[in-house]
Amino acid sequence: MGPPGAGKGTQGALLARRHGIPRYATGDLLREARREGTALGREAQRYMNAGELVPDDVILGMMREKLSSEEADGGFLLDGFPRTVAQVEGLDALLSDLGREIDAIVSLEVADEEIVRRLSSRRVCAECGRVASAGAECHELCQDCGNGLKRRADDEPETVRRRLEVYREETAPVLEWYERSDTPVRKVCGGGSVEDVQARIIEAMAS
Ligand code: AP5
Repeated sequence: MGPPGAGKGTQGALLARRHGIPRYATGDLLREARREGTALGREAQRYMNAGELVPDDVILGMMREKLSSEEADGGFLLDGFPRTVAQVEGLDALLSDLGREIDAIVSLEVADEEIVRRLSSRRVCAECGRVASAGAECHELCQDCGNGLKRRADDEPETVRRRLEVYREETAPVLEWYERSDTPVRKVCGGGSVEDVQARIIEAMAS
């Protein structure tokens, strides 16, 4: 968990690779559906471009399919989900049906100024969705597929402000909910280099 731009995708990908498990990132799944032009992608687009959350039933339907798949049998990492208390309740019911549980929550803590700085310089590949780090890579082509990089529509400053508000209104209560539950919550500082943050997460998970 963590606010927009906290590094969930960056750290989640490293952690999933380290453990050899799939990473289910609701934002990535929605963008993929949008690129493919599916009904789900078209429905999600207007919410995403405005910095609003996609309706809970859409998200829960998508995640039910992922978590019930064989690929998830050996464990999985959730990135950007659950994001509302209704999603927590839906996830709880789903996990109970599947006889599974969440081992731990990692929450990345990053100051708003750093978030605005990171998101204003983030570029993504319009074709495959690869995230390019800020700086040197900005004006180059995607290193995976060779297509052009562009700014995510929801990384415009006004939309980032709205996403931060939505995080505080809708998602911060999710963290509070988990803090009152038996699931361990590890708050990790998301500042500094990607490697430093990864090391902090590994240490926090080990405890
Ligand atoms: P989503 O794609 O999940 O967006 P987000 O939560 O706002 O998170 P971001 O992807 O912007 O950031 P991140 O934390 O993954 O950071 P990243 O690693 O990329 O969701 C988008 C939209 O989809 C939502 O607004 C909503 O509409 C919808 N949606 C998704 N899930 C939903 C749900 N469950 N319910 C309802 N709606 C949902 O890093 C950011 C940048 O910083 C990158 O450029 C990266 O290279 C750089 N960076 C990372 N780490 C560092 C570091 N340590 N130092 C310097 N730069 C760094």
